Amino acid sequence: VIGTAVDFVLFGALGDLSQRKLYPALYQLDREGLLDDDTRLLGVARYELDDDGFRGKVEAALKQHVKSAELDRAAVKRFLARFTYCRLDFSTPEGYQAIRDWRQAGSVRPMVVYLAVGANLYGDICRHLEASGSLDERSRVVVEKPIGHDLVSSGEVNDAIGAVFPESRIYRIDHYLGKETVQNLIALRFANPLFGTQWNQNHISHVEITVAEKVGIEGRWGYFDQAGQLRDMVQNHLLQLVCLIAMDPPANLDADAIRDEKVKVLKALKPFTDDMLGRDVVRGQYIAGTADGASVPGYLEEEGANTESHTETFVAMKTGVANWRWAGVPFYLRTGKRLPEKLSQIIIHFRQQPHYIFDPDQRALAANKLVIRLQPEEGIALEVLTKDSGLDKGMRLRRGPLHLDFNSAFPKSRIPDAYERLLLEVMKGQQYLFVRRDEVEHAWRWCDSLIDAWQDRDEAPRRYPAGSWGPVASIAMITQDGRSWYEDY
Ligand code: BG6
Repeated sequence: VIGTAVDFVLFGALGDLSQRKLYPALYQLDREGLLDDDTRLLGVARYELDDDGFRGKVEAALKQHVKSAELDRAAVKRFLARFTYCRLDFSTPEGYQAIRDWRQAGSVRPMVVYLAVGANLYGDICRHLEASGSLDERSRVVVEKPIGHDLVSSGEVNDAIGAVFPESRIYRIDHYLGKETVQNLIALRFANPLFGTQWNQNHISHVEITVAEKVGIEGRWGYFDQAGQLRDMVQNHLLQLVCLIAMDPPANLDADAIRDEKVKVLKALKPFTDDMLGRDVVRGQYIAGTADGASVPGYLEEEGANTESHTETFVAMKTGVANWRWAGVPFYLRTGKRLPEKLSQIIIHFRQQPHYIFDPDQRALAANKLVIRLQPEEGIALEVLTKDSGLDKGMRLRRGPLHLDFNSAFPKSRIPDAYERLLLEVMKGQQYLFVRRDEVEHAWRWCDSLIDAWQDRDEAPRRYPAGSWGPVASIAMITQDGRSWYEDY
């Protein structure tokens, strides 16, 4: 691929993210011919290893996390040969010369620095890279969430990165933006006049977003208990989904055209007030229950748990976007750990016809729904009403999907992992799938209003058994509006 050759430096090269996501993604790009022949990779970590030892670790990660049918011997060999290893103590300036030297061994390529490490190290690493002369005016930096734990701390992290890199070369990852169906929201909304004309409060009654996870905390207690589900999932992933659903059409597909529109949505999110807390927000924490038929412990019994913790593992909320397009349209969001299945979907509920002429007892049926499924399998379904067949049915209505299952409709195309797309865009130097500083900050501002109110009340979250759909109060939250969470039929 012409013009995308980079020197790729990965900090945290032996960490979980690198092994589970980044090596498999880079390998798939290489296998598909999307890594330039001249792209070189430098793994940086604290452990004593030589290049071959390190390549062995990368190979082991591929074996564990890539389907064996996709592990092509020649492709793996070529991929591993791109790697060099560098042992470094990230927080002290000594040793960073090694990165500069690696680059100077003949490179005219831009450098991509990927920080797969805690945000507390971002500032130090950026400064030491600069001081060692490793960077130039084309170097880019990629950072992971969480960027801080509130507005103030995110500002500090962003300032530290921003002291070295300009915004145009900072790539903040929200891996949901790399998911194929999430990008498809842009195509669906802005390429289809059918939806373009209906996408507002005149035609949409409410929007529902569920991001359910089957997993629990998975050994991440230390991080998760400080964060909770609001910070871990809503502040970033769910709000990005809200933005893509709610934003006005961008003038073009340029990064800033899209991000300007997303920021307008974040600014228009309804802030939380005290009286909304009891009614429109439900915090939950799982207790012992089941997952895949086996017993699993509650959150407070997980290894390393603080048994007094009030951290939420589930949150459901009713919010809205206070602008002309969305006035009066509730957005119901829910996300949690240890729910019955891994399921992420967005449902756009359209309004009913102004005048209804069918069986009165079927009235509740009578509206279209657009179901956008992100995972497990990606697809889009439009629920439409037709006449039930059969001589005895009269004009009984029946609902059924116009269904597009990506896997079966386009069977040849492998759906790439989110990180493949994101890494490719970084190498191309395109920012539209990355989060701009003001997006992070407006998202925090909104979350902070909720977190502050929670802290003032200091209430224990509501309990729900692992393997259930969350606290019953989250069901009551939506039924009090005469609606229900969407269930497949
Ligand atoms: C991460 C969160 O950002 O997203 C995790 O930190 C969560 O807690 C994960 O499990 C979910 O991602 P996905 O792609 O599996 O839906």
